Amino acid sequence: MTSDELLLPSIGFGTYKLRGEAGRAAVTSAIETGYRLIDSAYNYENEGTVGAGIRDALAAGTVDRDEIIYTSKLPGRYQHREDALATVEESVWRSGIGPVDLYLIHWPNPGQGLYVEAWKALIEARDRGLVRHIGVCNFLPEHLETLERETGELPVVNQIELHPEFPQTDALAWNTDHGIITESWSPLNRGEVLEAAPVAAAAAAHDVTPGQVILAWHRSRGAVAIPKASSQARQQENLESLQLDLTDAEIAAITALGRPDGRRKDQDPAVYEEF
Ligand SMILES: NC(=O)c1ccc[n+]([C@@H]2O[C@H](COP(=O)([O-])OP(=O)(O)OC[C@H]3O[C@@H](n4cnc5c(N)ncnc54)[C@H](OP(=O)(O)O)[C@@H]3O)[C@@H](O)[C@H]2O)c1
Repeated sequence: MTSDELLLPSIGFGTYKLRGEAGRAAVTSAIETGYRLIDSAYNYENEGTVGAGIRDALAAGTVDRDEIIYTSKLPGRYQHREDALATVEESVWRSGIGPVDLYLIHWPNPGQGLYVEAWKALIEARDRGLVRHIGVCNFLPEHLETLERETGELPVVNQIELHPEFPQTDALAWNTDHGIITESWSPLNRGEVLEAAPVAAAAAAHDVTPGQVILAWHRSRGAVAIPKASSQARQQENLESLQLDLTDAEIAAITALGRPDGRRKDQDPAVYEEF
């Protein structure tokens, strides 16, 4: 998927809850399996784990540093300029792999009223060479319009909750129309949508797994899914979704699973805040 300045693989690797030696090994194995886009966050408390896993893959010669797109995120509690810049520096030191390739504001927290200040701080961090590209998570069009109006710059990525029960058709179209790449978080709805009838039907028709069907659905709609998987077998299974093309009818049937209240935990960014 592309924006004007960034080319992302069609699938990435989520790392929420991957920590310690097991997490480090899972990250190294994901890179060996073929993932190049690796998602982390300051608040996952695993930037050290993920950085160690990436360094292991670099030391083994599996990849070059410039092939990896390492992502981290700014927590809501650090949206003031000086806190934000110190947090980005901390992220760089924790991961230990040089500048962060993609740094995202984790939540807009509109009640706090600081996301424009945080965005200006990320622009400054990029200008100082601490991060290469900057984006956001969980921003609604109204928040994105505010960023553009106040700073003249839109994010390259908007990472949002997106899965068959909450397909985000309008948000996805808005992002695409504005040159913003959409990444889907909890793309498998943490496994809770795997048994839905249209998913099972497509899996049977193509002789693939339900997880592969859902990941192919994301790709077909132009969103970059970032599934988390602990085992190399599942990492491989998820990556092999790249070989699967669903029919238009299958895509439509899976999209029709969507419900207005389909969010996992009612985390509407218009009101929900995370620190
Ligand atoms: N920006 C944000 O606000 C935000 C919020 C949430 C998440 N995220 C990011 O998005 C990433 C992905 O979301 P997520 O971890 O919440 O959920 P997810 O990727 O939808 O689901 C992960 C769960 O599904 C299982 N799984 C993976 N592949 C599978 C397959 N092929 N078949 C069956 N089960 C499978 C995993 O199990 P095992 O691990 O046991 O294999 C894990 O329990 C996170 O890790 C994080 O990086 C961002």
